[in-house]
Amino acid sequence: MPNPIDCRDGLAALPPVLLEHLRQADEVLVLTGAGVSAESGIATFREALNGLWARFDPAQLATAEAFVEDPVRVWSWYEWRRAQVLAAQPNPAHRALADWGRQHGRLRLVTQNVDDLHERAGSREVIHLHGSLHAPRCFACARPLAAPALPESAEQLVAPPLCPACGGLARPGVVWFGEALPAEALASAWALAERCDLCLVVGTSGLVQPAASLPGVARQQGATVVRIDPQPAADFKGDWQLLGAAGMILPALLERL
Ligand code: OAD
Repeated sequence: MPNPIDCRDGLAALPPVLLEHLRQADEVLVLTGAGVSAESGIATFREALNGLWARFDPAQLATAEAFVEDPVRVWSWYEWRRAQVLAAQPNPAHRALADWGRQHGRLRLVTQNVDDLHERAGSREVIHLHGSLHAPRCFACARPLAAPALPESAEQLVAPPLCPACGGLARPGVVWFGEALPAEALASAWALAERCDLCLVVGTSGLVQPAASLPGVARQQGATVVRIDPQPAADFKGDWQLLGAAGMILPALLERL
């Protein structure tokens, strides 16, 4: 594994050759995960939850089986998360990626996040591998449904609305464990990994497939792979790991490009 570079106090230790790679990259794929929204106050997937949801494991709530067993509990958990996202603002990491995208015509963002903070920061054509909190659909007939008004209290349990067409229950428009990813999003992300020359991996533990395979696909065809995260990944097979918060590293990197 290449030695991680400690960037918590700034980018002084960054090798010039890495900056050259970043400057010269023609086609850039940025894969983001929950860590990129952490500085906006959105809990990462594997952090402990608080309040009403503290005793639930998110992985146990994010399944079709959990929804069938207790639709009110699962729907309410996602509505709590949607309220959190709507109250949050994009942070300097989202904004730096949006700025970079504007400066660099061939940068595409692929996210595992179900929030819309990349879009609200100004990024365009974001590929959402795991769906969106803001696009519910019918559990029975899959018809897209309007998101309802949020409950007054985050601690409140609410029943999912009913589909006006078939009477089925609304479900969140996210990908649950055991479900296939949206085919078009996955195909686009894969095609980008197969042709990019720089792949930036930001704020993801890389534990969930198939998203976790994208950096490997990029590297195999010769792309430079750079990971940005406060925690080193022991099994990282890319070129560079920059240790630190995305909200600090990304704007500082952009300044040097
Ligand atoms: P995780 O919660 O697994 O990982 C978040 C990563 O962000 C960790 O590696 C943290 O160290 C890192 N992190 C925390 N703060 C950060 C900061 N300020 N800057 C940069 N990185 C930071 O979240 P994901 O990898 O996104 O899927 O999880 C992937 C998928 O697992 C989720 O999309 C979700 C879940 O199962 C589904 O719901 C299908």
